[in-house]
Amino acid sequence: MLHGGVGGQSQHSGILDTYAKESILRKSALDAVVDSVVKMEDNPIFNAGTGSYMRIDGSIQMDAAVMTESGLGSVIAVEKIRNPVLLAKDVMEKTPHLIMSGDGAVRLARFLGYAEYNPVTEKAIEQMEKYRSSKLERDVENERYRSLKAMGDISPLERSTDTVGEVAYINGKFAAAVSTGGATPMLRGRVGDSPLPGSGIYCGNKGAVVATGYGEEIIKHLLCYRVYERIGSDDLSTIMQDLTADFKGPVGLIAVSATECKSYSNKPMPVGYFERNE
Ligand code: GLY
Repeated sequence: MLHGGVGGQSQHSGILDTYAKESILRKSALDAVVDSVVKMEDNPIFNAGTGSYMRIDGSIQMDAAVMTESGLGSVIAVEKIRNPVLLAKDVMEKTPHLIMSGDGAVRLARFLGYAEYNPVTEKAIEQMEKYRSSKLERDVENERYRSLKAMGDISPLERSTDTVGEVAYINGKFAAAVSTGGATPMLRGRVGDSPLPGSGIYCGNKGAVVATGYGEEIIKHLLCYRVYERIGSDDLSTIMQDLTADFKGPVGLIAVSATECKSYSNKPMPVGYFERNE
């Protein structure tokens, strides 16, 4: 199952179904989730990879993570690469580390042969121009602390939180992957939930969970781990609904266990799904 971000457009579910169907052809759950997330990063309609939104200073910094039952790879605030999720997988498989950030992560990417790439799109430029002419942007320039507090009230700002993610259960193994350009408006250096294990992603031998939405709120709730730890105590829909009941702002989740695969969101969220039983 994959999602194109809470607040995204439901008509994108068709393309996500196709990605889900294609990803199940991969050999492992990890390869499946990475395959789909690469496709979403390369599709500019999503806020990840090409199509990522800009920070307030006009830069694009992207976060991504992959997790399996035994491994984790995560990258924070990486710039000028095409597929952050591939770098997250490389962190997991080719380094002794779990999480890499900023210039060190980009240096690793170049060492591994990732070409320099500009992910800026017309969509990102339009979004930035919209914010530059909005009240919030003036507040950020004039009164930093007040504006940061105001970032909690997202309703008038059409905040875009189209993080992408996938969970998979293939041949008895679980995996999860996420990627995002972040939740606009945001300062350079701000870190959301997506690259933080337990917050925006979690995977273990009971299942896999990824989140989308208001990152600060997801981090405070340690949302994905809390969903994961309750797997088996109730049905997935009830667990996800319970744990997001007091959320301020948009939130979405997808989760898979050995017996269920479900999505939940408090705003529209495109979801793709494919199941094959052998
Ligand atoms: N959920 C993505 C973010 O807050 O960065």
